[in-house]
Amino acid sequence: MRKEKILVIGASGQIGVELTLALRKVYGENQVVAADLREQNPLLHGTGPYVSLDVMNKEMLHVQIIRQNITQVYLLAAILSATGEKNPSLAWNLNMQGLLNVLDIAREEKLSKLFWPSSIAVFGPSSPRVNCPQQTVIEPTTVYGISKYAGEFWCNYYWNRFGVDVRSIRYPGLISYKSEPGGGTTDYAVEIYREALLKNKYTCFLKEDTYLPMMYMPDAIRATLELMEAPAAAIKFRTSYNVAAMSFSPREVCASIQKHIPSFEMSIAPDYRQQIADSWPQSIDDSPARADWGWKEEFDLAIMTEDMLKNLSL
Ligand code: NAD
Ligand code: SER
Repeated sequence: MRKEKILVIGASGQIGVELTLALRKVYGENQVVAADLREQNPLLHGTGPYVSLDVMNKEMLHVQIIRQNITQVYLLAAILSATGEKNPSLAWNLNMQGLLNVLDIAREEKLSKLFWPSSIAVFGPSSPRVNCPQQTVIEPTTVYGISKYAGEFWCNYYWNRFGVDVRSIRYPGLISYKSEPGGGTTDYAVEIYREALLKNKYTCFLKEDTYLPMMYMPDAIRATLELMEAPAAAIKFRTSYNVAAMSFSPREVCASIQKHIPSFEMSIAPDYRQQIADSWPQSIDDSPARADWGWKEEFDLAIMTEDMLKNLSL
């Protein structure tokens, strides 16, 4: 069996930092190469190799993959929902061409596995709002959602046509304390904890009763590793899997913070991100992920709040 050598593209981002550190624990620090367009995140310094890389430059990407003897790629470079609405063509170009570049190289170099994340943003206003199923009406209205939905079918196509073992999760909004979020509609659920500790108050850009599917980063990292470790025969969906952990509103996360910081106050000033949030489901049904590869979350809102406040206070 060949030893895996992994390339994480977008390693300096919100997910990339924690995923790179987790992969280095499993595979060994020199077996996981972190790559990003921007400089290395300080949390990665001294933990393993780093290369500066633009996923849009297919030739240079291909050279790196050959030169570093890469066998698996985790592709995280993308423009998220809120930033995407400010520059739709940039979001479409990066989110689509970046994926196609990696899929092509994965096919040519016969990479053993590829991970590419989709999002709850594939769903649109015509999808069921509560317990939105794996397979349902999917009509996204953001450029980010459109790019994720198209990307899912490119993954499915490369699996069916060329046998590229590409696996994917439709992540919910992710909450973390290690690295900052990168321009999503769910970012309020990270900002609120930081501002609670810094200023004891927070102005939320979504209305108090806006429910969205959410997940704490340790659960998201574990879901990713478990999906990638599952036997290929267990993976029934080669588009992308719904995974769920919790669903809450700004009012509820505020109340959970107030249990620890009673004087904390939240005010509301909805902006263009409200419309994006309103187009997404409030909660997700993930029974196929639970049945096919044994997904189960560990964190709920109360435990996450305690952990976020503890770690952000250190
Ligand atoms: P992020 O914005 O924090 O990180 C993305 C990283 O990609 C950044 O470090 C950026 O510098 C890098 N990058 C951008 N363009 C690049 C290029 N041309 N070449 C190389 N690197 C480039 O995003 P994230 O939150 O870590 O998200 C990672 C992936 O997970 C994305 O595909 C995103 O759509 C998906 N996702 C994230 C969430 C979430 O809540 N964070 C939810 C659903 C899906
Ligand atoms: N957290 C992401 C966003 O809000 C969902 O993909 O864009």
